[in-house]
Amino acid sequence: MTKRVLVLNGPNLNLLGTREPGTYGAETLKDLETLCRTAAEELGLGLDFRQSNYEGELVTWIQDARKTADAILINPAAYSHTSVAIHDALRAVNLPVVEVHLTNIHQREAFRHHSYVSSVAFGVICGFGTLGYRLALMALADKLK
Ligand code: DQA
Repeated sequence: MTKRVLVLNGPNLNLLGTREPGTYGAETLKDLETLCRTAAEELGLGLDFRQSNYEGELVTWIQDARKTADAILINPAAYSHTSVAIHDALRAVNLPVVEVHLTNIHQREAFRHHSYVSSVAFGVICGFGTLGYRLALMALADKLK
């Protein structure tokens, strides 16, 4: 059966392409979705691609993943650095998780250096722009074999 990956994008990622392009690049969220769909197809994965600016909505989607997904790729954006609720939800669902950041968070402001999600992810990818999502899908396809 086809394995399904839930791709979650956190707050402000809907503004990709116009938001600080010097930092986050020129590609839009739609471009990122297309990249993920292409990669998922190549890897034989099903894909559910979502973005929300609301912490509670992300928590609910993570909880729902127990029934609808086999793995989670998440860029929690700013919630990486603040959200115990997203940490707890990811821990509760017990699915393989990869955390992705477009930028190298360790090269940026000190408040971005810690992520509450990293300890519940089996891998973390940061600093490779949108390529990070493709690399994460490759890692998940391998994990789900
Ligand atoms: C981000 C890094 C976060 O620190 C920031 O709040 C984001 C995007 C990234 O993809 O590089 O919104 O997760």
